[in-house]
Amino acid sequence: MEHFQQVEPFDYVIFGATGDLTMRKLLPALYNRLRIGQIPDDACIIGAARTELDREAYVARAREALERFLPSDILSPGLVERFLARLDYVTLDSSRESAQWDVLKAQLAKTDPDRVRVYYFATAPQLYGSICENLHRYGLITPKSRVVLEKPIGTDMATATAINDGVGQYFPEKQIYRIDHYLGKETVQNVLALRFANPLMNAAWSSEHIESVQITAAETVGVEGRAAYYDTSGALRDMIQNHLLQVLCLVAMEAPDSLEADAVRNAKLAVLNALRPITETSAATETVRAQYTAGVVDGENVPGYLEELGKPSSTETYAAIRAWVDTPRWKDVPFYIRTAKRSGRKVSEIVVTFRPAATTMFGATPASNRLVLRIQPNEGVELRLNVKNPALDVFNLHPADLDASIRMEGGMPFPDSYERLLLDAVRGDPVLFIRRDEVEAAWRWAEPVLDAWKHDKVPMQTYSAGSYGPDQATRLLADHDDTWHEASE
Ligand code: BG6
Repeated sequence: MEHFQQVEPFDYVIFGATGDLTMRKLLPALYNRLRIGQIPDDACIIGAARTELDREAYVARAREALERFLPSDILSPGLVERFLARLDYVTLDSSRESAQWDVLKAQLAKTDPDRVRVYYFATAPQLYGSICENLHRYGLITPKSRVVLEKPIGTDMATATAINDGVGQYFPEKQIYRIDHYLGKETVQNVLALRFANPLMNAAWSSEHIESVQITAAETVGVEGRAAYYDTSGALRDMIQNHLLQVLCLVAMEAPDSLEADAVRNAKLAVLNALRPITETSAATETVRAQYTAGVVDGENVPGYLEELGKPSSTETYAAIRAWVDTPRWKDVPFYIRTAKRSGRKVSEIVVTFRPAATTMFGATPASNRLVLRIQPNEGVELRLNVKNPALDVFNLHPADLDASIRMEGGMPFPDSYERLLLDAVRGDPVLFIRRDEVEAAWRWAEPVLDAWKHDKVPMQTYSAGSYGPDQATRLLADHDDTWHEASE
């Protein structure tokens, strides 16, 4: 099957190799791709990090990570050994010049210099420029080298520009892969299939028929061990500027001419450029920010954000925004975007509410059709229709849900979104990665919101952990006689 086609031999160098992302996501994802036969036996994965470790100690950590983060039924001892045999490690402060770069160079010299080399930056983004400088200084950039950049690409436009310039000095744009793991999710990619392969949907996909769109990513987890990072970021920078705006782009974009990277990226960029700017004044009515207080999540008492942090903070753990895409297709259609930590349930979904039928033949106006694209969990598509209520002789309507689960064969869970993306970088397919101008357009829109918040133009609200968010977010929709999806279920 094409799905399982093996990629060409490669060297993957992961900077930040002892960090949480590498252990929790990258190594398990690579193991899984080896397991299904996509990674050739002569591929090399080299971890690089400041922690003083020899190869053996790193392999032990990697083994522990696989055991901890992968379901035991896909861990077979033979495969684990085959995977670990691919690993190497170099102790390296990647932001500095040092003899350790020569050690990395010697490791890479063991394989054919013409093969694909992927440098994955899972470090603090401020280091990206200096890592590139060192890769250049030590002669490690080959024609088939590419860099994968983890988010966040900056904390605002100025820092994003500095990071992009720093990397761009050594790598041309086509060798830069900015990862957004939401684009690796099957159900996010499915938005394209649903819209453009189904004339039924395609014909209804505009303000003529659509009344509003909601995009939600809510999590039950708090900030856990990541408080130090999270407190410098917050919900808008962590989730909206990247993941949720990318989802919005796929929902709102015009049909690209093809699935070529630039066709898709141009179509997404056009949406980002058409987002109505939010000003310091309009932020007060179009945005809501909040922090969670102590509450109950999944039956457990959990502390509030400030208690967890142990100090005062003006970082939001919840954000909701009413966005507008100023194109003829989306005239007067609000896009409500929200994200939360410590929400009452974990759910990522897109909810499209259609305009109600303009008929008087049934007496009351029929309810709006609602299309729900469940990104996770319980991946699927749900469509609420009006049907005749069979329990009554009179012609009364009642809602009926068509519910299609999207599953892998045999009910297997979907592969983690990193799996495909890690190998897309080897294959040289950038379609699911973000181009520089997209990052910048997203910051151009997000930055005034952050400024308005910084200048206290929008009060910080609170919500109890385990709830759906602050009341103010409900009001954002009530202006348009609308409700969040959970309130209508
Ligand atoms: C990451 C954020 O990018 O996405 C995290 O930094 C968040 O804070 C995560 O928890 C959510 O990803 P997913 O795939 O679990 O929805």
